[in-house]
Order: sequence, then C-alpha cells, then structure tokens
Amino acid sequence: MGTFYVTTPIYYVNAAPHMGHAYTTIAADVMARHHRQRGDEVFFLTGTDEHGEPVANAAEALGMTPQALADQNAERFRSLMPRLNASNDFFIRTTDAEHKAKVQEVMTRVKDNGHVYKGHYEGMYCPRCADFKSDAEIEDGDRCPIHHIVLTVEKEENWFFRLSAFQERLEQLYADKPDWVGPRHRANEALSFIKGGLQDVSLSRAKLTWGVEVPWDTEHVFYVWFDALLNYYTALSYARPGEDLTSTFWPPQQQVIGKDILKFHAVFWPALLMAADLPLPERLYIHGYLLMDGDKMSKSLGNVLDPFTIIDRFGTDALRHYVLRDVTFGQDGNVSTVAFEGRYESELANGLGNLASRSIAMVRKYRDGAVPAVEPELQEDFAGLADEVAALVDRAELTPALELVWERVRRLNRYVEETAPWTLAKDPASAERLDVVLATLVEGVRVVAVLLAPVLPETVDKLLAALGAPDIAYERATLTAGAVTQVQALAPLFPKDLPAPAPAA
Ligand code: ME8
Ligand code: MG
Repeated sequence: MGTFYVTTPIYYVNAAPHMGHAYTTIAADVMARHHRQRGDEVFFLTGTDEHGEPVANAAEALGMTPQALADQNAERFRSLMPRLNASNDFFIRTTDAEHKAKVQEVMTRVKDNGHVYKGHYEGMYCPRCADFKSDAEIEDGDRCPIHHIVLTVEKEENWFFRLSAFQERLEQLYADKPDWVGPRHRANEALSFIKGGLQDVSLSRAKLTWGVEVPWDTEHVFYVWFDALLNYYTALSYARPGEDLTSTFWPPQQQVIGKDILKFHAVFWPALLMAADLPLPERLYIHGYLLMDGDKMSKSLGNVLDPFTIIDRFGTDALRHYVLRDVTFGQDGNVSTVAFEGRYESELANGLGNLASRSIAMVRKYRDGAVPAVEPELQEDFAGLADEVAALVDRAELTPALELVWERVRRLNRYVEETAPWTLAKDPASAERLDVVLATLVEGVRVVAVLLAPVLPETVDKLLAALGAPDIAYERATLTAGAVTQVQALAPLFPKDLPAPAPAA
C-alpha cells in the first residue's frame, strides 16, 4: 500500500467536452478506482486549462470575455465528471487564484536557478495548439501539422526557458528510466525529438493579456503551456482547504495524456521540473486517438458517438466499458455507434448481464436464494488472475487487463452450458453436484464483479448488493467458499429494450 497520484490533461475551455475528453478521464478514473481497491491512498486530478490564445481567440470570436467563456465552459467540464462517474478528488481551473500564485512562485525559482533569459523570438506559431513550431514540425504551406491552419509569423521580445540546457539530462532520463514513458514507441518518439536537438522555448507572451502575469515583468504573461503543465503540481497545495498535500502526493505515480501533447509532457515537462528542482513523475502514459468514423451509421444512435447520448440511453458503465474494450488503450482506433451497440449487446447484456441474472435466478429457484456453503470449482481458471490484472494496470495496459477478466466471464457462461444446472435440478441424486455448480457460479460472478468494479462501478454496486457481498477490496478477488451466503433478486443489469432515440435537437 502506498500513495497513487493520477492526472489527466487539463482540458481547454475553448470548446465543449467531447468523446476524447471523456476517454482520457475514464481511463484515469479506472486506474484511480483500481488503486483504491488495492488500499492505496489515491489522489485523482482533472480540470481545465483556461488561459492563452486558444481561449482568448475563441472568446473573441463569440464576442465574450475570456473569463466569461472560461466560466461557462469550465462548468461544462466540471459537470462532465459526475456524469462519467469520475471519482476525481479535485477539479483544478487554471484561473484559480491559488494556482496562479503558485505558478509565479515556481517560475520565479526557475528564473532564480538561472534557466530564464530575455530574448527575441521570430518564427511560426499555431494559435490553436498554442505552440511555436520548429521547422521540422511545419507542414507544407506553412501549416500546423495538427490543425492544418496557416501558421502565424510571430516576432516578439520574450522571456525564454533554457530548454537546450537540459538536453543531456533528458537523454540521461530516457536512458536510465526507459519505462517512464509508455507505450515504448512513444518514449522513442520523445527521445528522438530530444536527440534532434532542443531549442530554447518562449516562456512568456508580451502581446497576450489573458494569462498568469510574469511577476518580474508584468507586461508579460506566461506562455500558456508553462501555466498549464504546472497545474499537476499547484493543485496539491490547495485542493484540500487548510492542507497542503504536496508532500503526501508529489510526484505523480501516473500521468495520462493523448498523443497530441506528447512533446509538452515528455520533453518540456521533465525539463521544467528539473529546472525547478522538483522530483519527476514516475510514469507518463500516452494513449492514442479515438477515430470517429462517421460512415458507420447505427439505426438507433445515428452516427455521432456522443458520450452524453450514450450515457443517457445506456448508462455510464456502458460508455466506460466500450471505450476501453473496443480500442486497445495506447493505440488509435475507430469507434462507431454500430460497434458500440454490438458490444453492449454481446458483452454487457448477453455476457455479464445474462451470467449474473441466470446464476442468481437458479440459486433462488433451486435453493431458495441460499448459496450452498461448498468449495467452488474453476480454481485453476481463476488462479493468479487478480495479480495478473494488477500488473497490467500498473503498466497502463488497461485493455489486456480487462480482457483477462472478460475471458472469465466467457468461461463462466460456458460452465453454465457444460454443467446444465437445470438438468441436475431434475434429479435428486445430483443435489450435491448442483450445490457445487451454484456455489461456483455465484462466486465466479462475485470475483469478476470485484475485478470489473473500476470500469463498471454502478453495475458492480447493484450486482454485489444482490449478492450481499459489497466489499470490493482487491484481496476479495479470489474464489472463496462461503463469501456469498444469500442472494437477492436482481433487475436486468443491461436492459435490451433500449428507450427510443431522443428526437434530433
Ligand atoms: O491539449 N481521442 O487540451 P485539449 C483521444 N489544454 N483522446 C482525445 C481526443 C481523441 N480524438 N481528443 C482529445 C490540451 N483527447 C491542453 C492540455 S495539459 C497540462 C494541457 C484528449 O482540450 C486527450 O487526452 O485539447 C488529449 O491529450 C486531450 O484530450 C487534449 O485536450
Ligand atoms: Mg487539443
């Protein structure tokens, strides 16, 4: 048991929350819930990135002040969290006064340590990325490789961060701790960027007013990425009123981001922490993109995989399950309404839902709800399972970790077919055999439920309540005689009769 500090990126408030934001948040939440089960003291941070050009420009286009747009959209992100059933311990906004003061404090230390100087910047800039692009990063026609918009030419007197001075230390970091960034090909990508030669980066913007003031030169605000990256550190100092959690939780055990912001997190971020004399995060995991294929049209859902629509119609757990199952976490993958509905029906309704309901129904029918107090079978099928799952989650391999559990769900459904309890029930001479089968089914269901609790928290709550065994502590994830004594009726966990689609807005 230890501490487990996990973070998501903080999301830009220039647009509304979408599936990509839901995805990262769900993945980090699964890790947080898993570690709570293991008895770790967990801190799970998410929030919003509210300064800089992306927000200032979006506000201007809408005829709003940046603060008004930030307030409006931060609220939408904040309220996304309970809808996803995210168990975040805090929601940081970079417009929080405490955050801003802490950014100023840390950046002053970076300057005092000799890593900041005043210089002249001239080059290409993407206002959507809030990123200064090096020649190698520029697409044909002077365009942003991510947004494909024409880059602006920026010329200004800026404060600079001496990133180039960290070249060797960063190469050493990747040599000493090749696993600090996962998956491996992302670490290689970061390392080759570093080896390509690091240039110093602008640390402030003179033309922009929407940001955290540079305390030693109040005509400038910090370049938004410095302000944003530091959220992971500043949050701990004020998340819990009257307490400073920094010494308890810093550095993070796990940071989770998408591949679009690799350079900032795998290159700038460790250099910034080194410059500020702060310990580095233990592990950064870089997941892929969910690709929304608009051609795959579903009859009932239309073709836009909107997280809110799915949650409204199928429940939060169905969304959490789908995004982690259908796309291997760490890789890019297509998501579609057709694939969503397929998995909902095959795995949730017919797989887990049916297993749970028929297991419980048979105990009620044949044993009046009393679970026979006998040793369950299938011990070999479950041996070592919980440890294997934990080891995979520790490497952020969430999809293979889940597959191990779903193999057992399928195994249990096959076991029902193989043992045919309805036939055993007809013959009084098979009563002992039926006892073993029923005990095995109930116990198998309980164990998979404990292991699925991080992904399907609502479903598992209902299921374990019906089993009268609500404890999801991780050590409970092994087959045990007598763990469940009495079962209660269970309403369908994943109803197949979906409500009619909401009329188009
Ligand atoms: O970059 N598939 O914020 P952002 C998977 N504020 N994940 C996706 C995705 C997709 N199609 N689209 C977005 C920023 N994401 C900065 C971060 S951190 C100090 C500052 C997720 O609103 C993914 O996690 O553009 C990605 O990294 C993040 O949203 C970008 O969110
Ligand atoms: Mg973005």
